Amino acid sequence: MAIEHSSVKCSFVYSSCFLVLLVLNFSSAQLSANFYAKTCPKALYTIRNVVSNAVVKEHRMGASLLRLHFHDCFGCDASVLLDDTSSFTGEKGAGANVNSLRGFDVIDTVKTQLESICPGVVSCADILAVAARDSVVALGGPTWNVQLGRRDSTTASLDDANKVANIPSPAMDLSDIITVFTNKGFTTKEMVALLGSHTIGQARCLTFRNRVYNETLIDASFATSLKTNCPITLGDDNLTALDASSPILFDNGYFHNLVKNEGLLHSDQQLFSGGSTDSQVSAYRANFITFFVDFANAILKMGNLSPLTGNNGEIRTNCRKVN
Ligand code: HEM
Ligand SMILES: *[C@@H]1O[C@H](CO)[C@@H](O)[C@H](O)[C@H]1NC(C)=O
Ligand SMILES: *[C@@H]1O[C@H](CO)[C@@H](O)[C@H](O)[C@H]1NC(C)=O
Repeated sequence: MAIEHSSVKCSFVYSSCFLVLLVLNFSSAQLSANFYAKTCPKALYTIRNVVSNAVVKEHRMGASLLRLHFHDCFGCDASVLLDDTSSFTGEKGAGANVNSLRGFDVIDTVKTQLESICPGVVSCADILAVAARDSVVALGGPTWNVQLGRRDSTTASLDDANKVANIPSPAMDLSDIITVFTNKGFTTKEMVALLGSHTIGQARCLTFRNRVYNETLIDASFATSLKTNCPITLGDDNLTALDASSPILFDNGYFHNLVKNEGLLHSDQQLFSGGSTDSQVSAYRANFITFFVDFANAILKMGNLSPLTGNNGEIRTNCRKVN
C-alpha cells in the first residue's frame, strides 16, 4: 500500500512523495511478515490449523473471526478480547459487540496451543490478524501476507468501543460512513472494499428491521422475504445472511446484491444509492479479482494501523486477561 500511494503522489509532487514514503514506512517499520520465524516457527501453521478446523465445523465462524479483527482494529491490540475486571470495563459489552461478537473460544484454543509450544511469544493481536486472513482464505477469498509483531494492550475502553467513530452503526448514511473511514486514514475506495466483508456472515433482525419495514430503496420481494424471520416486534436476535446468495463463500455476491437493492443493512445499501460509490460497487460486481486485490490491500492496511510495538504493551499469556 505504501508504495502504491507514494508512487501516485510522486508523479505529481516529488517532495511530498518523499515525506509520505518516510511516514508510511515508519508506521509499519516494526511489523514484519517473518516476525516469529525464529521464536515460534510453527505459529502460523498452528493458527491456520485451529482456524480451518473451526471453520469446517461451523462455516460462519470464518465471518465471526474476520469481524473480531475489525472490531479490535484501529489500534489492533487485542483489547477486544479482554474480559471485564475491577479496574476497567471491557469492550465486549459495547453496543455493537454484546450478543454479537463471537469466536473468542477459537482464539483461546489457538492461544493455549501456542503457549504450549512457545510460551509468551505470540501476541493475541497477531493471532486475531492471522485468524482473520486464514478465515477469508478458508471461505474461498484472497490471501495476503499478514504483518506481525503487534503487542497486546494492558487495558480496554468500553467508551471507545461505543463510539460510532470507531465502530460505525448500520443506520449510518454514506457521508457519515466515509467520514468515519477517512478519519481512520482510509480512502473511500478502501472503505468500499472493506465493507465487501459482508459477503459472509450473519446479522440479527435488530440491525436491519427498520430497513425492511420503513425503507424504499429495497427490493420489494426481498423485503417481504425477510419479514417472516424478522417480525415487526419480536425476534431481535433472529439471524439472516448478510449475503443470502452465497453466505459462506467469500466472493463478490455482496456487490451483486447491492445493485439489485438487496443490501441487508441500511449501511450496505448506502454504497449503491445513487452516490459517489455506485461505480465502485459496479466495478467489484463485474470483476471479483479487482475486489479481491483491493480488499487484501485494505485489510492489510487496517491491521497495521498504530500497533503497539517495542516495549509497549505486553504478550498476554491468556487473551482474556492482562498478565
Ligand atoms: C460501516 C461499516 C460497518 C457497519 C455499519 C457494520 C455493521 C455490521 C452489523 C450490524 C453486523 C451484524 C452484527 C449482528 O447482528 O450481530 C455486521 C456483521 C459483520 N461484519 Fe460488519 N460492519 C461494518 C464494517 C465491517 C468491516 C470493515 C468488516 C471487516 C473488515 C466487517 C465484517 C463483518 C462480518 C464478517 C460480519 C458477520 C459476522 C458474523 O457472522 O459473526 N464489517 N456488521
Ligand atoms: C419505522 O419508522 C418509524 C418512524 O421513524 C419508527 O417509529 C418505527 O419504529 C420504524 N419501524 C421499524 C419496524 O423500525
Ligand atoms: C425466529 O426465527 C425462527 C426460525 O426461522 C422462527 O421460527 C421464529 O418464529 C422467529 N422468531 C420470531 C419472533 O419470529
